[in-house]
Order: sequence, then structure tokens, then C-alpha cells
Amino acid sequence: MSGASQNTASSASPIIKNQHPAGAQIKALRLQGKRIMMRPLVPSDHAAWSEVRLRNGEWLSVWEPQRSEFIADPATDYQAFERRCAARDRERLAGTSYTLGLFIENTFVGEVNLNNVLRGAMQTGTVGYWIDRAHAGNGYVAEGVAVLSHFAFEELKLHRIEVCIIPRNTNSKKVMDKLKFRLEGLAERFLEINGVWEDHLRYGFTIEEWQNRKAAITQQWLVTKT
Ligand SMILES: CC(C)(COP(=O)(O)OP(=O)(O)OC[C@H]1O[C@@H](n2cnc3c(N)ncnc32)[C@H](O)[C@@H]1OP(=O)(O)O)[C@@H](O)C(=O)NCCC(=O)NCCS
Repeated sequence: MSGASQNTASSASPIIKNQHPAGAQIKALRLQGKRIMMRPLVPSDHAAWSEVRLRNGEWLSVWEPQRSEFIADPATDYQAFERRCAARDRERLAGTSYTLGLFIENTFVGEVNLNNVLRGAMQTGTVGYWIDRAHAGNGYVAEGVAVLSHFAFEELKLHRIEVCIIPRNTNSKKVMDKLKFRLEGLAERFLEINGVWEDHLRYGFTIEEWQNRKAAITQQWLVTKT
């Protein structure tokens, strides 16, 4: 062993066994709105997540990519859910995706995600979401996206976020109306949804727009410090 590598080894901080140095950052993320809280899902959320997913089968499946028959369903397979949580933790650590459970008074009701985070010249991310039909119609997802926008622009310092919606998904377009995201246009055959290459409307929101509307969004959806 060379002298240089011996020096490096002796001056390095020890890593506690089985504990990643960024572990606290991975697990501790909590985003708070006026009525909602969002945090990464953990294996112990399986029972709640699975109950909501199974009860909302068609409500969700018509708006989501088809699940491969070769991949275990996390809704019915605890270990598949555990692997899903671990994969999401790794993505968050790498800074590529932030997948968050949506909670109302500690009850799991859906998910709001910031996916496909790209740095370089784009500094962008794609927002996706869904909610239990039993809790739909309360503006909870709009609040979740407002909270995620704050995180994306103020914490991650992204320049732009986007939401992509099939034109016939009127409920999701209502979320965009509430948040006043800017309609950019139609991307043809943009994403595979339920087995079909579907056209999607692309809604954009940049940091310049965030800065102009931050005060109003904060007042309506976010927790203000007193
Ligand atoms: C799209 C979705 C996330 C909206 O979430 P939400 O928190 O209910 O959003 P809102 O409360 O703003 O409601 C949006 C519209 O849904 C409709 N709606 C409300 N409650 C509903 C219910 N129980 N059943 C059906 N539609 C309902 C209303 O038209 C409402 O618009 P309005 O508030 O102007 O009346 C939710 O409908 C959902 O999860 N749908 C299935 C998955 C999906 O489409 N994901 C998005 C893919 S881009």
C-alpha cells in the first residue's frame, strides 16, 4: 500500500456499519402543507398503501402505465413493496426522483412525485400524482403540488417543473387550473398509459413564474411561519 493511500485511509471519517452517511437525509424528508403532509413511504406503510391501491383499481389503472405481468405487484406482495421503497430511497439519494406519500391527518391517501429530475442545461423535473377516490375533490393534490413546487424551486433549485396529462383527464386538468400552471401544448403519443401510446398536454411552471406567484401560492396552500 502506498503512503498516500495510507494517509487517506487514516484521515477518513468512519462509516457506521449498515448506515449510509446520507441515511438521515433519505428518511427524514417531510413536506408540510396547510392540510397535507408528504414523506417517503417505508415498508411499514404497506398495509395502508395496498388497501388504497386495491380499493381504487380502475380509478387509477386507466391513468397509469400498464404493470408488467413479470414484475410482482407491490399491492399484493410485501417484499415487492419493500423493494419499491428501497429503489425510491436510492433515487432520492441520487437526486433523480422524489416519490412521496400524501397523508391527511396521518392517513395515507395517495402519492405526489417529482420524477425524471435532470440537471445540466435543463434543471427540470416531472410531477405525477394520484389520490384515493374517497378523498378526491378536496384540492389535496393541488396542495401537494404546491408544496412540491416550493421544494423543487426553493430546495432543489430547479428551473422548471412540468405535469403531463391525457386531454380527456378532466379531473387532472382541474388541478392545473387551480395552480395556474401554463399549458404549453400537446405532445403526440407521448407516454404509454394502460397499454396505449397516449397524447399528453404538457403544463410547465418555471422558477420565474414561481417567484411571481410564490406569495399567493404560499398564502393559499403552504404553512406560513409566524
Ligand atoms: C386527478 C386527481 C389526482 C385530482 O385530485 P383531487 O385532489 O381530487 O383534485 P381536486 O380536488 O382539485 O378535484 C379535481 C376535480 O375532480 C372532480 N372530482 C372531485 N371529486 C371527485 C370524485 N369523488 N370522483 C370523481 N371526480 C371527482 C371534480 O370535477 C374536481 O374539480 P372541481 O374541484 O373544480 O369540482 C384525482 O382525480 C385522481 O387521482 N385521479 C386518478 C389518477 C389520475 O388521474 N392521476 C393523474 C394523472 S395525470
